[in-house]
Amino acid sequence: MKKQFIAGNWKMNLTMDEALGLARKLCDESINSDVVDIGVFPAFVFLRDICEILRDSKVYVGAQNMYLEESGAFTGEVSGAMLRDVGCTHVIIGHSERRTIFQETNSMVNSKLKAALSFGLKPIMCVGEKQEERDADQTSEVVGNQLSEGLAGLTSEQVKKLTIAYEPVWAIGTGKTATPEQANEVHTFIRDTIKSKFENDTAQNIRIQYGGSVNIKNADELLGQPEIDGALVGGASLEPGSFLDIVSAAGRLS
Ligand code: 13P
Repeated sequence: MKKQFIAGNWKMNLTMDEALGLARKLCDESINSDVVDIGVFPAFVFLRDICEILRDSKVYVGAQNMYLEESGAFTGEVSGAMLRDVGCTHVIIGHSERRTIFQETNSMVNSKLKAALSFGLKPIMCVGEKQEERDADQTSEVVGNQLSEGLAGLTSEQVKKLTIAYEPVWAIGTGKTATPEQANEVHTFIRDTIKSKFENDTAQNIRIQYGGSVNIKNADELLGQPEIDGALVGGASLEPGSFLDIVSAAGRLS
């Protein structure tokens, strides 16, 4: 069994005091970090301070997005080089909120993945279908396209550095979770797709997180599925108790 990876995507939430307080709590209490990988993804403006707070802990710090160029006239954007500079090791690429609200395409996700890897960042690449796509039986087609276009031109060695997060759009922030069986089925499809494009070893070793209304009530069952290697947690990661409970649930499976 792979080491589970529990990541908290804080989205556009928390004040500075709250964000730094949450990071300090995680630093003090990240007891399970020998058996579970833990990561937090705060808003850009808090990253530098949070990298500092968590520097001697085992909690990874990453950004929720980045731009694909190193520097230049791209008003409002932040580069992978800047993220590395402040101490980030990870970055989320292609979150469904980026795709739907900010019109990010598979081709942009592909360029951003390449840029992130070139700056030594480890990406969490998000994929997932919308409700109407699931209803129309298009989940495999949509997720398959996100993977083939998003991973185009990457080598097996590069793909090994990635984590994939399967986040069905209809389950994000809605309280509606995919059943463990539904999630496991798509995770199996994702692993098979990676196997068909890259080496078997790459497919077997890549971690596939589930995301979408994960909380302490459903974490045990979801994380207990054979193809689920962790969780990308939104709402429940904003409070140290509920996030660490999910980390503990992952720890019990190790
Ligand atoms: P929720 O856990 O709030 O549904 O968010 C999931 C998510 O989008 C994590 O990236």
